[in-house]
Amino acid sequence: MAMYPTQRLRRLRYNPLVRDIVRETELSKNDLIYPLFVCPGMNVKKEVNSMPGVYQLSIDNLVKECKEVRDLGIPAVILFGIPEHKDEEGSEAYDPNGIIQRAIRAIKSEVKELLVITDVCLCEYTSHGHCGLLDGENILNDETVSLLAKEAVSHAESGADIIAPSDMMDGRVLAIRKALDYKGFSHIPIMSYAVKYASGYYGPFRDAAESTPAFGDRRSHQMDIANSDEAIREAESDIDEGADIIMVKPAGAYLDIIYRVKHELSMPTAAYQVSGEYSMIKAAGKLDWIDEQRVMMESLTSIKRAGADMILTYFAKDAAKLLK
Ligand code: PBG
Ligand code: ZN
Repeated sequence: MAMYPTQRLRRLRYNPLVRDIVRETELSKNDLIYPLFVCPGMNVKKEVNSMPGVYQLSIDNLVKECKEVRDLGIPAVILFGIPEHKDEEGSEAYDPNGIIQRAIRAIKSEVKELLVITDVCLCEYTSHGHCGLLDGENILNDETVSLLAKEAVSHAESGADIIAPSDMMDGRVLAIRKALDYKGFSHIPIMSYAVKYASGYYGPFRDAAESTPAFGDRRSHQMDIANSDEAIREAESDIDEGADIIMVKPAGAYLDIIYRVKHELSMPTAAYQVSGEYSMIKAAGKLDWIDEQRVMMESLTSIKRAGADMILTYFAKDAAKLLK
C-alpha cells in the first residue's frame, strides 16, 4: 500500500456520493426478519413493558400487522406463541388448534408473499417455563426432542414456510428433519438456532413471551458465553443433521462468532438481535442519551458486516421505513 502523502485515505470520504460508491456493506430490507408475539383473544394489542413498540397481538391484529410488514417490503416474520393453557408437557405447542397453528393458518389465508417462520421450543408452553420435559430439575433430552419433532410437524401442517428450533437439545435437527420428511415436508427448510448462548440479553423477551423459567436457568442446554470453538462444533453438528440455515444468537455481543460461523462454514447465516439489544437502544434513545435511529442502523449494519445474511430484529419495521 502506498504511503502518505501519496496515499490519503480521506480522499474517499469528502464527498457523500464518493462515500456511497465505495461503501462495502449495504443493509437491505431483504435481510430483515420481524419477530411477532401472538396471544389468545380478540382485538388484543398489549405493549410489552420492557420492549416499547413491541406488542402481544391476538390473531386478528397479528394478521393486520403482517399485512403492514409485507407492505413495508420485509420478506419474513418469525412467530412466538403465548398459549391459553400451560402444562408440564407444553401440550399446546403441538396441538393442531394451538395458538401458533391457528395464527399460521390465518396469516397464510390472508397475507400473500410473506414467509412465516416458526420458533420451535417448549418454554412458552410449559408451566415451569423450561425448554423441555423435566425429571426433577433435569431437562430430559431425547424425550423433549420427540415432542419438538411433533411441534415442528404441526407447524408445517398449518402452513409454516420455515421451521426454527430454538431449544438447544442435542439431536433435535435430525429428529425434526426426519419427522418433516416422513410427513411429506421434505421441501421445508430448517433454520437452526445452532449457536445460542445462555445470555442475559433475553430478559425482555421472557416478559414478552411469558416464558421465564420457574427455577434455575438455561445453562444446561444453551452455550457458555465464553466459548467460540464450541460454536463451530454446534453449527457443524446441526449442518450434519440437515440444518439449512445456521443462526447465531444474540448478535451484537457475538460479532466474532457470526464472522467465524459465516467464514468457516459457508452456510446461509442468520443473526438474532435479541430483546435486550433492542431494549437497551430504545431505553437510551428515550433518555436522549443516544440517537436511536442512528444506533439502530449502526447495530444492524455491523451485524451484516460481520457476515450475517439475514437479521432477526425487533427494529425490522423501523429499519425498513428508513431503507425505503
Ligand atoms: C425460546 C426463545 C428465546 C428467545 C428466542 N427463542 C428465549 C430463551 O431462550 O430464553 C430469545 C429472543 C430474544 O431475547 O429476543 N427458546
Ligand atoms: Zn426455550
